[in-house]
Amino acid sequence: MRDILVVYYSRTGITRMVAQRLAALLDADVAEITEKKDRSGAMGYIGAGKDAVLKRDAELVSCPEIAGRKVVVIGMPVWGFNPPSAVRTWLKRTTFSGCKVCAFATMDGSGADRTLAKVAEVIGSPLAATLPLLKPKGDDPALEAKLKEFARQVPR
Ligand SMILES: Cc1cc2nc3c(=O)[nH]c(=O)nc-3n(C[C@H](O)[C@H](O)[C@H](O)COP(=O)(O)O)c2cc1C
Repeated sequence: MRDILVVYYSRTGITRMVAQRLAALLDADVAEITEKKDRSGAMGYIGAGKDAVLKRDAELVSCPEIAGRKVVVIGMPVWGFNPPSAVRTWLKRTTFSGCKVCAFATMDGSGADRTLAKVAEVIGSPLAATLPLLKPKGDDPALEAKLKEFARQVPR
């Protein structure tokens, strides 16, 4: 088991791509939060936004364990300036004592800072490092630079 775990939730794969890239840079394990609700299509999008803004809990299918990790990096998309419901539920179910927590959020426009502040609020302590990412593209050298800088800020 590695000291660092990257935990992420992703609806369309963008946050997953970033999580995998970061895990490689950090020599970390990676684990996905998944939920029962189908978030695909237009109806899935609308329901996702509502659930996130109303801070509804999600029914999780995969709820990663962090016991034994020194550092956890949490990745998520911004949903209506909020973490997705599945991330909120996972944060509430997880005990972070003795573990340093960092987080990143992917977005199409704005809201990552507010989303990351809400993550800190649910955890009840400040995040050790944060990274807002606007429309990250896998082949963009600027993304690699941002991820490397973030990786340097992640405590070991
Ligand atoms: C329900 C919903 C709400 C969203 N709200 C925002 C928003 O408030 N601000 C923003 O910049 N992007 C918003 N987005 C776009 C996503 O944050 C963005 O496309 C993200 O990178 C998708 O990541 P994923 O592929 O890992 O799901 C929203 C997407 C969804 C599905």
